[in-house]
Amino acid sequence: MDIKTVGVIGAGQMGHGIAHVMLRAGHSVLLLDTSENFVEAGAERIAKGLARDVEKARLTEEQRQQAVTRLKTTTMAADLAAADFIIEAVTEKFEVKVGVFRSLEPYCPPETVFASNTSSISITRLAATTGRPAKFVGVHFFNPVPVMKLVEVVPGLQTAPETVEQAIALAASAGKTPVRVNDFPGFVSNRVLMPMINEAVFCLMEGVADAAGIDNVMKLGMNHPMGPLELADLIGLDVCLDIMMVLYESFHDSKYRPCPLLEKMVAAGWLGQKAGRGFYEYPKK
Ligand code: 3HC
Repeated sequence: MDIKTVGVIGAGQMGHGIAHVMLRAGHSVLLLDTSENFVEAGAERIAKGLARDVEKARLTEEQRQQAVTRLKTTTMAADLAAADFIIEAVTEKFEVKVGVFRSLEPYCPPETVFASNTSSISITRLAATTGRPAKFVGVHFFNPVPVMKLVEVVPGLQTAPETVEQAIALAASAGKTPVRVNDFPGFVSNRVLMPMINEAVFCLMEGVADAAGIDNVMKLGMNHPMGPLELADLIGLDVCLDIMMVLYESFHDSKYRPCPLLEKMVAAGWLGQKAGRGFYEYPKK
């Protein structure tokens, strides 16, 4: 199937980034969120990103103008009927994601692919709540989406091979490198990354070093582009905690228990860059 129109559910950090790279690749995008304010904020960030692409000669001015006209925003699930491939990028909670797919199901033809950008929730479990498990697949993008090359493509137990091929082709069309990964909690990326971040928070809590010291060790000693605490601030501490909880509850293994300091910071609302404060402070934009 030729994918012309991509639906993106959620206009936040990941959703607007996915919409941006799909527009840049020449697809039409239907961007849905729960309120006009959310979709407008997402569309504004996309417009800024596309303008930056022209500055950096990744797009011509004509391509930018065409891309802008291919973006449609909506708050109505029924409008997603026109999408060939729908990527859900809402909050990392099973029930919320299930609610999204349930709201779309009555409007979308059976051949429409449903995909989730979940960072850790079982694709098989999500797929089983829909009426189209063969047409359901995981497509896990990375933050910041326009920059990071990877997409983990995750088939569930019932996903049809052609659905996986469609997801791989779509990711490749957006200039990404798809890597097929089986459906295990956290896939590969977050099973490895999140325990590292969590351990860095334990180091901070136990006073092994301060935040800048911990980040410098990993940047200068391991050549990581960002330290784990800076990266947690970029990802969002709530997202990190949600993923640790999925790992902890799925594997029933205490090695994945979230650091109490991470839990406390989330409870305090110190969620990282988006909140103006996480392990570091960020000036309000
Ligand atoms: N959003 C969008 N674009 C951003 C950005 C952001 N937050 N931060 C940087 N960029 C863009 C810049 O605009 C610049 O683009 P340009 O070509 O238009 O100029 C480009 O990235 C490079 O930026 P800089 O030169 O300013 O900065 P760096 O060279 O330091 O790179 C970085 C910034 C790409 C964020 C780099 O530090 C990095 O790779 N960090 C690690 C990011 C990472 O690990 N992401 C994965 C997180 S895990 C995840 O997403 C999975 C989820 O399930 C949790």
